[in-house]
Amino acid sequence: MSTEAAKFQVSGLRAGFGSNEVLRDISMDVPAMGVTAIIGPSGCGKSTFIRCLNRMHERVPSAYVQGDVCLDGSDIYAAEVDPVLLRRRVGMVFQKPNPFPHMTIQENVLAGLTLTGKRDASTDAEVVEKALQQAALWDEVKDRLDQPGVGLSGGQQQRLCIARSLAVEPDVLLMDEPCSALDPIATARIEDLIRELKERYTIVIVTHNMQQAARASDMTAFLLMGNLVEFSQTSQLFTSPKDSRTEDYITGKFG
Ligand SMILES: Nc1ncnc2c1ncn2[C@@H]1O[C@H](COP(=O)(O)OP(=O)(O)O)[C@@H](O)[C@H]1O
Ligand SMILES: [Mg+2]
Repeated sequence: MSTEAAKFQVSGLRAGFGSNEVLRDISMDVPAMGVTAIIGPSGCGKSTFIRCLNRMHERVPSAYVQGDVCLDGSDIYAAEVDPVLLRRRVGMVFQKPNPFPHMTIQENVLAGLTLTGKRDASTDAEVVEKALQQAALWDEVKDRLDQPGVGLSGGQQQRLCIARSLAVEPDVLLMDEPCSALDPIATARIEDLIRELKERYTIVIVTHNMQQAARASDMTAFLLMGNLVEFSQTSQLFTSPKDSRTEDYITGKFG
């Protein structure tokens, strides 16, 4: 992969908690275009890896990070980088939909802007509609924007969380098992949405569901016990893996 096409250049990344080293010398270029999936058995470090891409990992008191992570060629761990601003550029969606419980649908979409002091009342309505349109939720909620976000179905709540991330106009969307709490129909809607969003955003998705990685991603990274075993085009990784450990994992021999 040429470096011009890389959104993130990760090199020699080591990260963990106290004496528990979770990521061991990970180097990979995450391409700017398309969807990169991170797969691997539970506990192998998938969440830790993506949390290093927007500096959420360091919020855990015992956490440490070493090595380099560049976003568009600039070191995100440089002293002058404000992690709050970085997290606006690199948004994140979690496993369990987490709309703010006491906020309306509209307030939820605007929450990121409110938190970073970027809210402008004159553009609220426009921002809300645009983000909900992009998250494929507008038609379902446009008549009840003032109702609680938590009143929506699980799949709608997850799309609301995606809208909340998109409202701050990020470059990158990190998704940590975004469908694991959803039923198959809601999952399919999120996967359709990922296909639309990848035209505009760099998307990195953690999934323990190999069918989902195969369906929704362009590149796939296989992590095993904190090591990057293989990083290939998704079609290649699932049909002719280069490493026998990848083959064992995708054929269900462990994990
Ligand atoms: N907040 C934390 N404090 C201490 N250890 C943690 C924390 N979160 C995760 N770990 C440990 O880091 C390892 C990797 O976890 P994680 O990155 O969540 O894996 P995955 O997402 O692949 O399931 C596990 O051994 C887990 O116990
Ligand atoms: Mg995880």
